[in-house]
Amino acid sequence: MIRIAIVGTGGMGNSHADIFSKIKGCKIVAGCDINEARVQAFCTKHSIPDFYSDFELMLEKSRIDAVVNVTPDQFHAPLSIRAIQAGKHVLCEKPLALNYAEAMTMVRAAKKKGVINMVNFSYRNAPALHRAHQLVASGRLGDIVHVDASYLQSWLTSKAWGAWRDNPALVWRLSTKHGSMGVLGDVGIHLVDFVTFAVGDMKSVNAQLKTFQGLKGKKHGVYTLDANDTALMQVEFKSGALGMLHTTRWATGHINSIELLVCGTKGALRINLDQGWDRLGLSLGKDIDTGKWVEVSCPPVPRIAERFIKAIRTGVNDQPDFQRGADVQKVLDTCFLSNASGKRTKI
Ligand SMILES: NC(=O)c1ccc[n+]([C@@H]2O[C@H](COP(=O)([O-])OP(=O)(O)OC[C@H]3O[C@@H](n4cnc5c(N)ncnc54)[C@H](O)[C@@H]3O)[C@@H](O)[C@H]2O)c1
Repeated sequence: MIRIAIVGTGGMGNSHADIFSKIKGCKIVAGCDINEARVQAFCTKHSIPDFYSDFELMLEKSRIDAVVNVTPDQFHAPLSIRAIQAGKHVLCEKPLALNYAEAMTMVRAAKKKGVINMVNFSYRNAPALHRAHQLVASGRLGDIVHVDASYLQSWLTSKAWGAWRDNPALVWRLSTKHGSMGVLGDVGIHLVDFVTFAVGDMKSVNAQLKTFQGLKGKKHGVYTLDANDTALMQVEFKSGALGMLHTTRWATGHINSIELLVCGTKGALRINLDQGWDRLGLSLGKDIDTGKWVEVSCPPVPRIAERFIKAIRTGVNDQPDFQRGADVQKVLDTCFLSNASGKRTKI
C-alpha cells in the first residue's frame, strides 16, 4: 500500500483526494494545510486519519511514501524539495515553480534522491490529446503548418465560479506578490503543455501580456491586483510551423474552455474539450477538398494520478515529469522576456 499525504487542502486538494481515493493500492493517510480548520474539515470529509498544519512535523511524524503538493504556486518548489530531501515521491501541481531556474533545482533534487517526480498537467488526462499526439507523430496530417489554441475563462466577468472578490482561492491568482504568474502561469501553462505535447517543441515566441485597466494596480485587502489576466503568444515551432496561443480570464461566455486546431499539408485535427475530452475532429483525405470534418472517439488513457502510483510501484518515472515541467516553465520565462522587450525571443 502506497501511503500518500495531500498538502494544500483547498479546491484542487479536494479534487486530488477524490481521485486518489479511487485508485487501488494507495491510501491517503495525511492532509496538511496552514489553515488548521480547513485541513481538519478536509480530513473528516475524506476519512483521512491524520492532519497537520505544520509540513515539517508531518514529514517527521507521518509514515508516508509520497506527497501530492497542491499548495499555491510559490510553495511548489520549497515544499517539494523538502519532501524530496526526506525521500518522498512527489506529484506537484502546475506551474512546477516560479521560473526555470527554480524548476531545475527541483529536477536536480529529485534526480539526486532518485524519487518519482511528476507534475500535474491535468489536461494530459484527455484521451483526445493523446490521439492528437499520435496523429501528428504518424505523419497522417502531413507537415504541420498552422496551430491555433486557446484557453478561455471568464471568472473576472462571470459568477459561474462565485464572486472572485470574495474567494481567496481566486484573488491570490491576481497578485504577483502572492506568487502568481497571472493567467499565463495559471492556465496558459496548460496551453503550452497541451500544444507542445501534440505538435512538438517551440523555437521562439512573441508574447504580449496585459493586466486590464479595470484591475491594474488596484488593491484588494492584502492583495495588489497586478498579475497579467490576458496573454497572447505568437510562436514558431522547431518544425517551422507557426502558432497562435491565447488565454484570458475575460472570455465572457466561456467558463473553462480549451480548443486546439492543428493544420497540416494533408489533413487537420481539432479538439474542443467543452464537447468532450474523448472526442476529436478530423479532416483528412478527400474531406479536405470540401472542408468536411469527421468526429472520432478516442480510447481512454490512464490519469496522471494513476500513472504516478504505477511509477512508484514500478520505480519507472512517467510523464509529465519535473523536467517536462521545467521545459514548459522555460517557455513561460521567455514570454515574460518577450513581453518586456516587445520582441520575438528565442526559447
Ligand atoms: N492542474 C490543474 O488543473 C489545477 C487546477 C486548479 C488548481 N491547480 C493548482 O493547484 C494549486 C492550488 O490551487 P487551489 O485552487 O486548490 O488553491 P486554493 O487557494 O483553493 O488552495 C490552496 C491551499 O493551500 C494552503 N496553503 C497555502 N500555503 C501553504 C503551505 N505553505 N503549506 C500547506 N498549505 C498551504 C491554503 O491554505 C489553501 O487551503 C495551485 O498551484 C494551482 O495552480 C491546478
